[in-house]
Amino acid sequence: MSIPCHADLSRRGVLTTGAATLAASAVPNAPAAAQDGGNSAVPMARVTLRVNGQAHPLALDTRTTLLDALREHLHLTGTKKGCDHGQCGACTVMVEGRRINACLTLAVMHDGEAITTIEGLGTPDDLHAMQAAFIRHDGYQCGYCTPGQICSAVAVLAEIKAGIPSHVTADLGAATEVTAAELRERMSGNLCRCGAYSNILDAINDVAGRAA
Ligand code: FES
Ligand code: FES
Repeated sequence: MSIPCHADLSRRGVLTTGAATLAASAVPNAPAAAQDGGNSAVPMARVTLRVNGQAHPLALDTRTTLLDALREHLHLTGTKKGCDHGQCGACTVMVEGRRINACLTLAVMHDGEAITTIEGLGTPDDLHAMQAAFIRHDGYQCGYCTPGQICSAVAVLAEIKAGIPSHVTADLGAATEVTAAELRERMSGNLCRCGAYSNILDAINDVAGRAA
């Protein structure tokens, strides 16, 4: 005896409905964008990044990090992406004279602020003293961490000159000095997979006018 046609359709319908229900219940907290077919509007904002003395008006997804804004939108690829988690220092830039990890901050938080990247420190024909010292002392091998190291080193010497103490400063009442311990502590957020640390230290000491 053959199975009636309407019974077959009904069985398929039950299976289809069941599969759809299962799929929906498997992702109870799926983002709205996925549930409405990806039509949710991307949150955008207008921001002006002042990078290396030049103003750049941009319309950005508000979730864009400063690092991605620099690299992907302004094509300033000197600033490197290492871990993208605030752990390696490859993305170090200066904002209003203070060093920060560009991967840990949103671009919209720096509207109008003065940002300095490695491209703004010096040029191939007119190197910053720290860039020249890194070359003189072989302070790099592959060079991937170097832009972050140099930005950090410039900021570190400025911090010490301004008398800002670090975790290893023994006497908070005395003038802060450039010592190996101070430099190691203050540069500890900048990792170098090639292990060029001793030469980096030599380069910073050179710029500080201090024998290593
Ligand atoms: Fe920002 Fe590693 S890429 S700290
Ligand atoms: Fe290669 Fe530092 S020079 S990671």
